[in-house]
Amino acid sequence: MEDLREDRPVDLVTALARARSPERPGPGTPAGTAVRTWPGPPLPIPEAGPADLDLRTLLRLSLAASDDSGRLRPAPSAGALHPVDAELVVGAGCSLPPGRYGYDPLRHHVHRIGRSPDGTPPGVTAGLSVTARRTVSHYGHRAWPLLLLDTGHAAAALVLAARALGAAEPRVRLDGLTDTPLAAVHVPPPGGRSPLHPAGSARVPGLTEGPPTSAELLARRSAPPPLPGAPSPDALRAVLTTAVRAGAGDLRWCAALGPPRPGLVELAADGTTLRPYATGEARPTLAHWAAGQAWVADAGAVLLAHGCPADADAPHIRRAHLRAGFAVHLAQVTARRHGLAARPVGSWQQADLGAALGAARGRDWIVHALALGTRHADEENTT
Ligand SMILES: Cc1cc2nc3c(=O)[nH]c(=O)nc-3n(C[C@H](O)[C@H](O)[C@H](O)COP(=O)(O)O)c2cc1C
Repeated sequence: MEDLREDRPVDLVTALARARSPERPGPGTPAGTAVRTWPGPPLPIPEAGPADLDLRTLLRLSLAASDDSGRLRPAPSAGALHPVDAELVVGAGCSLPPGRYGYDPLRHHVHRIGRSPDGTPPGVTAGLSVTARRTVSHYGHRAWPLLLLDTGHAAAALVLAARALGAAEPRVRLDGLTDTPLAAVHVPPPGGRSPLHPAGSARVPGLTEGPPTSAELLARRSAPPPLPGAPSPDALRAVLTTAVRAGAGDLRWCAALGPPRPGLVELAADGTTLRPYATGEARPTLAHWAAGQAWVADAGAVLLAHGCPADADAPHIRRAHLRAGFAVHLAQVTARRHGLAARPVGSWQQADLGAALGAARGRDWIVHALALGTRHADEENTT
């Protein structure tokens, strides 16, 4: 059997099939260091000149830890294990001289690891990869989908930070074609509509209701369960719209609701109304599928990303999970804007949504989710 602690590429098709099976993870294993060991001395990120892309703030708003343990960050992470590593390729117009740098999110420093390649576009390109053993240490064979989802969340955090800095057109590569890096985000320098973009990168939609503020990004947290209270139709529509726009392609999106009209709803083709997708209470089944997390059955709503059939190849698996993480991240920020409590739910076993709804088996699996409620647990306990 494969040693999942190794940080080398795995057979993703086999890894996903096993993660989706009822098999339970064994005892925990060592997580290793919290930050990848980059070569060379740590360097502070200089203050930005007026015409420079402010890398210090970009990273502070997206990937930097704000506590010594590293748990508190602008991006969520399954089990708060934070396996995503960022390597920066810096071009002209940035607050660091051109070159390649490894980023240390705990110290908020960089390590220079080499020259930037010829043809590097102005601005920064953050290549995201993972140290798998961090997530494997707790989730065992269930880690790989979570690693990909985490990477999608980190990519979205970088895009939102770029937008908070006023960057007009951050671009993202989430095509699933490579495992190192798994994803890349390119942020041009201020005012720069650079004609050069990293290969394979594409424009991405932002939040439907305008760019985020720095304070909003630093305040993002996952609400502790339980998450009772059904969101209003307006709030649910906003969250679904954000998810559909950011996570279209290989994925479909719906939301599970409880009484008085239990069932699944999706966004209609007009993009503005909610329509029934299936009837019947789904949340207890979702709780069972989500590693038996009972609180999911009482969430006010559960946004679901689904697709990624059993015969998907590795690029398809990577793409679907990266996109799902990316879109759920934007959906979580949108939910907060609408006063909702929200928590990602990423570990799914036997969650064959299509088969449960009477369609063919193995075609339509839950890939990621965002539990939503109107009240936080703390408020619930004091009322
Ligand atoms: C991909 C992914 C999957 C997650 N899955 C779950 C989950 O199944 N259950 C849960 O309670 N929290 C889940 N979380 C939330 C994390 O536990 C949370 O992000 C982490 O503890 C850090 O807290 P914060 O989001 O408040 O910064 C998930 C987060 C991510 C990014």
